[in-house]
Amino acid sequence: MIRKLDDLFVLNTDATTYAFRVTNGGHLKHLYYGKRITFDNGDVSFLEEGRELPPGNTSYYSDAHRHISLEYLCTEMSSRGKGDLGETFIDVTFPDGTGTTDFLYEGYELGTGSPNLDGLPSSHDGGAKVENLTVTLKDSHTGLTLELSYFVYADCDVITRSSRVVNSLSESVVLNRLMSSQLDFADGDFTLHTFTGGWVNEMHRNDIPVTSGKYINSSITGTSSNRANPFVMLSKGIADEEHGDVYGLNLVYSGNHFECAEKTIHGKTRILNGINPEGFSFVLEPGDSFIAPESVMTFSPIGYGGMSRNMHRFVGHHILRGQWEERPRPVLLNSWEACYFDLSEEKILGLAQQAASLGAELFVLDDGWFGQRTEDTRSLGDWHPNPDIFPEGLASCVNKIRDMGIDFGIWVEPEMVNVDSDLYRAHPDWVIDIPGREHSEGRNQRLLDLTRTDVQDYIIEAMSGVFSSADISYIKWDMNRVFSDVHSRALPPERQGEVYHRYALGLYRVMDALTKKFPHILFEGCASGGGRTDLGMLCYFPQIWGSDNTDAICRADIQEGYSYGYPLSVISAHVSTVPNHQTGRITPMETRYAVASFGLLGYELDPGKLSEEELTQIKEQIATYKEWRDVYFHGEFYRAGSSAGLANAEPTTWTVVSPDKSRAIGMNLQGLGKPYSHFEFYKAAGLKPGSLYEISTSPSFDEGSEKYIVRGDALMNAGIRTRTFLHGTHINDEIRHYPDFAATLFYIRER
Ligand code: DGJ
Repeated sequence: MIRKLDDLFVLNTDATTYAFRVTNGGHLKHLYYGKRITFDNGDVSFLEEGRELPPGNTSYYSDAHRHISLEYLCTEMSSRGKGDLGETFIDVTFPDGTGTTDFLYEGYELGTGSPNLDGLPSSHDGGAKVENLTVTLKDSHTGLTLELSYFVYADCDVITRSSRVVNSLSESVVLNRLMSSQLDFADGDFTLHTFTGGWVNEMHRNDIPVTSGKYINSSITGTSSNRANPFVMLSKGIADEEHGDVYGLNLVYSGNHFECAEKTIHGKTRILNGINPEGFSFVLEPGDSFIAPESVMTFSPIGYGGMSRNMHRFVGHHILRGQWEERPRPVLLNSWEACYFDLSEEKILGLAQQAASLGAELFVLDDGWFGQRTEDTRSLGDWHPNPDIFPEGLASCVNKIRDMGIDFGIWVEPEMVNVDSDLYRAHPDWVIDIPGREHSEGRNQRLLDLTRTDVQDYIIEAMSGVFSSADISYIKWDMNRVFSDVHSRALPPERQGEVYHRYALGLYRVMDALTKKFPHILFEGCASGGGRTDLGMLCYFPQIWGSDNTDAICRADIQEGYSYGYPLSVISAHVSTVPNHQTGRITPMETRYAVASFGLLGYELDPGKLSEEELTQIKEQIATYKEWRDVYFHGEFYRAGSSAGLANAEPTTWTVVSPDKSRAIGMNLQGLGKPYSHFEFYKAAGLKPGSLYEISTSPSFDEGSEKYIVRGDALMNAGIRTRTFLHGTHINDEIRHYPDFAATLFYIRER
């Protein structure tokens, strides 16, 4: 709910309050963001500093307002030149070369509905009432207009923000940066938590005390990137999974992003997020406007766990959309680690047949099926099936697969071209490169220039051709390089700073067109694994391949990293063969399944190379997953213990609980086996304290299995002592052997 009380704006979600007011100087002063509080009227003097500006070398705002220094003031947006020395929200260059701005309050508008950001993806109301507020400000000297918009998702305790600059002047201006949101706190003691990594190594949590100065989390790869995910957390004082004040911030954007946490010497803390100002500038002609992507903010007083569950609800109800939003996702078998580029129709049909007999619902043909793509140096752009693989065409092969009772999906990488391709030979000017300069290739390929409408139209047409050429129900949309030599032939020199953002807008136009044209297709986003795991992609594609690393131990860390900001229902995870192709590690089949089941389950191996015993195991796993899939998909997720560091003393514990709390699945995963460690605890979470639950390692609660009947409060607080659960096996009567990387799943149902 949004209320205006005199000069005060109060935005309430079910459990949080966000408040700011207009000062008598006309600035927007941020007052509060945290646990829900009550303002009876507009008198907020109890939150004012109530003291004169301390002496020193701080500049005061103006003669009429000698008591105001923008260096001290907590604001809703900051700008350069009038005393605020912190990281700035907006940066503009005017025709006279100056860059000082001073945005003052002009008016406001209240409304209902989710954002419409003109070509940028954004959240949707999901059937709920979303109240919004837009505050208009104008630069006191030039009249340049800035709008700050707020959207309240009360049920998720999420507030989203966006900003828009309108060039209301008669000359052009250059926009050097426009952030999406700014959060100022008068006090400090914050820790910034970022999630960084790289290829096969995504989403490692970093805890950075914001003691003094600035810490920047950003990407300049042209994508949201696996280097630094745009999701960050800010915790206050001491926080853990269940306790403490935790803020979560994310961006509905897939291009270069920027998050900055700063603490001044006066103790003020600021966090900003938005498009990365590095490599960015935008020329705004008179009447033009520029919209910054939507920023998503949440607060929880009950630790990282509470914050994550707010974000999960928000993503599930207000980011995902379309036919697949609520639909359980098919268990799949993907050809990549089974075949790589070594494909033939016989192999494809063999894999699909085995997938079907194991109970998988979808066979996915990965890279290598088109042009002359027998290695990664050629054919990207030539989107017609390789006749050596499909002598009777793709559709005929797909029909044979469909006859096996299984769906068919296929891999594409539409944004790319190899120099060795018919597409490049026909359109060498369609790429991002700098004419006359040697190009720094990435995976032997170049980016198509998606800033261009003709290139976007070509991709829409080429992909429409592929998607309608056979009975295709799933698409894996890959993107395998970082940007280099950034330049578009379609833009004049003064607009080259627009390339990154225009590329993102072009991509969104293409994805929007294709997802609308093929609403029945399940799209999975991928960028060398998790290089574009962000809320922008999720507005179009309801799931993402989180990492090319399929090693269960690494994956547990990676998936746990994602789980802070993204629900289990959007990250796909595959069981692969051992030794693992990325790490060489051998982990038990149970462990590989346990970890992958806490995602959208798939298999990425050649069943023909497995033993009968392993095939039986997989069959049982798939059957179990189907029975419990709705719990994983719709459930609330709880982390406990620590993540799966190899020599961890404690196991990683995860629990997912169905919305009505009648069913749950838990997992204990250990790193290195611990000698003489006969008992582990498993503590559930999120259950009804007073209800009676049955817990077993058997998904069907078999008579012979080890099981207990326990009250929810006992299961959650005391936990159960697991005896055989970590696959402890007797070597002889004396010695019990606890293998490395063992995992146990616990199935829980209300009696
Ligand atoms: C990178 C992806 O992340 C992999 O899963 C696979 O699809 C390869 N590309 C294919 O080239």
